[in-house]
Amino acid sequence: MQLKRGVLFSRRSVLRRVDLLSKQIISDLGNSIHAVFLLKGATVFFTHLMERLHHHGAEVSFHPMSVSSYSGTRSSGKIRVRLDIDRIRGKDILVVEDIVDTGLTIDYVMRHLKKKGAGEIRVCSLFDKPEKRKVKVRIDYAGYAIPDIFIVGFGMDCGERYRDLPYVAEVKNG
Ligand code: IMP
Ligand code: MG
Repeated sequence: MQLKRGVLFSRRSVLRRVDLLSKQIISDLGNSIHAVFLLKGATVFFTHLMERLHHHGAEVSFHPMSVSSYSGTRSSGKIRVRLDIDRIRGKDILVVEDIVDTGLTIDYVMRHLKKKGAGEIRVCSLFDKPEKRKVKVRIDYAGYAIPDIFIVGFGMDCGERYRDLPYVAEVKNG
């Protein structure tokens, strides 16, 4: 697959947005943040977000969470979760995601964390694609709302490619 344009959101623009999000998060949640970020896509975003949260005076603990859809015979909407759950019990959690599309992933994650005893859960997503939403989810902190296009870079992939791009680009015929 090919990239449509060189740059859709520049690194500079994204980093500026991440800085604003970090300030908003601290003003709402205070300076002790327990984050759960979703592998692999949110890794780059979360790393930058954490750096900005720290810069603005917050202390951040984090837990990566792996959520992957089954394929083949077990494909009917089942999701496999990996997370050291004892660490989040009773704590307010900031869930950090790269992009919310249908909303199914984030909805599942929130239900899962609740079931496992998390306190209040807030959601921060760098991108929000509201057009194909299937379940209602509240995104407390969204970087950019975008139309129904497929984007890569800054940790986001298309078939495991382009995660390494230091900016965000659109994929052709995504
Ligand atoms: P949802 O469950 O439909 O909301 O999908 C969310 C997940 O799909 C995200 O965690 C992303 O990994 C992936 N995803 C959705 N849209 C895009 C995109 O445009 N580029 C890269 N990944 C995407
Ligand atoms: Mg993802």
